[in-house]
Amino acid sequence: MDLVTCTAPVNIAVIKYWGKRDEELILPINDSLSATLASEQMHAKTTVSISPNFTEDRIWLNGQEEAMANPRLVNCLREVKRRARESGQTPQTRLDWHIRICSANNFPTAAGLASSAAGYACLVYALCQLYGVKGDLSELARQGSGSACRSVLGGFVRWRMGSDAQGHDSLAHQVVGPEHWPDMRIIILVANDGQKKVPSSIGMKRSVGTSELLKFRAENTVPKRIEAMEKAVQDRDFATFAALAMKDSNEMHATCLDTTPPCVYMSSTSHQVSDLVHKINEHFGTPIVGYTFDAGPNACLFLLKEHVPLLVHLVRHYFPTSDTTFKGDPFRGRDFDVEI
Ligand code: PMV
Repeated sequence: MDLVTCTAPVNIAVIKYWGKRDEELILPINDSLSATLASEQMHAKTTVSISPNFTEDRIWLNGQEEAMANPRLVNCLREVKRRARESGQTPQTRLDWHIRICSANNFPTAAGLASSAAGYACLVYALCQLYGVKGDLSELARQGSGSACRSVLGGFVRWRMGSDAQGHDSLAHQVVGPEHWPDMRIIILVANDGQKKVPSSIGMKRSVGTSELLKFRAENTVPKRIEAMEKAVQDRDFATFAALAMKDSNEMHATCLDTTPPCVYMSSTSHQVSDLVHKINEHFGTPIVGYTFDAGPNACLFLLKEHVPLLVHLVRHYFPTSDTTFKGDPFRGRDFDVEI
């Protein structure tokens, strides 16, 4: 039996991916940009094994057996095996052996906390190790979950939408490595760790079909904003970075509301967190905290290390019933996971 275990971290988008131009190949309608957490933080851990003794393919997610028929999973497995066959590294007999996949997240699954990104990045990486596949993994990971392509690289990562109909140029590129901005911190406020109401794939499809605002966003706002965001990251210009992240998150959620039927991801708690951040920033006269919300109510806050104690104090003050826990650091130092 051959067996590989690995972990892959979550990434948090500050310029969001929302909408596909090709559902099958998972090709987006705009570029996106994210920060990848350090892998000892929020991550997926996956073990893959093959053996001539296995009689069928099987998969377990967070301890529960799931159907292998999931088309995205099938796509990833097929593509990795195709590359392995082409490279001639793996004998056909090993490619024919049945597989067992066991994956678990160390954070809430499908609560709008980028679990699929970590999960598919991890699966693809593990499969490539198992079958000896080398080269760019982002194209493979993208076919599991779009945002997964950004989790195969560390630091700040830009997923370029590409123009090729087959998606060969729709790849992730590292903007800067994790060492670039050592004072940057990410705090995740978990407003609700239940499953999200509308999965992002369904929400995106709905938005592409019904939202004029989404079209405007993809064609007009994001192309300019992402250049400004890349520059802010390169310059370590926190105020511009935070302002752009908040603007982009709000625009993504506005397109979700402009969708028919609307996709409502943010809750009243999410809006309270957003209000608090704006009040703090008004007080300082410049953004010292930025937020972003994925397809769920949980807030991802970006701030510099020096402001972490203040922010934690204010969260405890304004959300007194919160259960506050501290869990390690996304960019090598220390970070806090504050649960509301
Ligand atoms: O990769 P998916 O299908 O889970 O979509 C992710 C969508 C957002 O998290 C809302 C935005 C993003 O860019 O990660």
